[in-house]
Amino acid sequence: VSTLEDGDGGTPMEDEFDVVAGWTHEAVQHLGPDHAIPAACRGTVGPAGLDWLARACRLGPGSRLLDVGAGLGGPAAYAAGSFDVAPLLVEPMPTAARAAARLFGLPSVVASGQALPLAPASVDAVWCLGVLCTTEEKDAVLAEIRRVLVPGGALGLYVLLSDRPHPLGAPEGNAFPSRTELAERLHRAGFTPGSARPTDEFPAAPAAWAARVEEVDAFIEHRHGNDPRFAVAQEQGRRMARLLGEGTVAGEVLHAVAG
Ligand SMILES: C[S@@+](CC[C@H](N)C(=O)[O-])C[C@H]1O[C@@H](n2cnc3c(N)ncnc32)[C@H](O)[C@@H]1O
Repeated sequence: VSTLEDGDGGTPMEDEFDVVAGWTHEAVQHLGPDHAIPAACRGTVGPAGLDWLARACRLGPGSRLLDVGAGLGGPAAYAAGSFDVAPLLVEPMPTAARAAARLFGLPSVVASGQALPLAPASVDAVWCLGVLCTTEEKDAVLAEIRRVLVPGGALGLYVLLSDRPHPLGAPEGNAFPSRTELAERLHRAGFTPGSARPTDEFPAAPAAWAARVEEVDAFIEHRHGNDPRFAVAQEQGRRMARLLGEGTVAGEVLHAVAG
């Protein structure tokens, strides 16, 4: 079993997205590769939402799919397995990017969405899942995505929407756009809106998928439950679950076309 060095963490976002990524990689190595995709989908888009998004984006064999803010790479690996696409992953957190490469053997580059290391018009589709709500650089990320997409290329988004960017009790580092704000930002970046679906309309993930996520979570708690970074990451998750539960934020998957 090869190990990945933990990211150092430091901010709650680093603990949540980088340190836990290393621990998740460790857990999958112990529990088996069938745990990789469920554990590596770090947003809350399950398989039904990913299927919808892949069809909306007309992904098919050989589609060059760039996943911006890919995290551990679960959604991109799912699209590769189910739709035969050729993914490229970009993720700013180094442990997460390394873990994605090792878990799935997919090309994974450490970079931020506002400085994509790709040539103009070099990909057919972009996914950006759970990312726009975790950055203040929304316009810069969307402009870069538009630059690297071919004209007519598809953008698939998962965004947590709210009437307030920083509601009381929000996890650290989040800035939720409103529906109107997101539409305006997409328009400014040169996208034409397509279809959209609230994520709570999709069926829950199959029991086997959910069970694997739970096994990975239990493994991580057993191994790292005493690490202060575990408590910070847990608190981030609890805060998000509370906002979703009370309806202060709501998840939506949407599709847009590069004009
Ligand atoms: C909620 S996670 C989602 C990860 C993955 N897309 C998924 O659905 O499983 C948000 C991710 O966005 C990344 N991120 C945050 N700001 C970013 C930025 N400016 N550019 C690219 N990625 C960013 C974080 O490092 C984190 O991995």
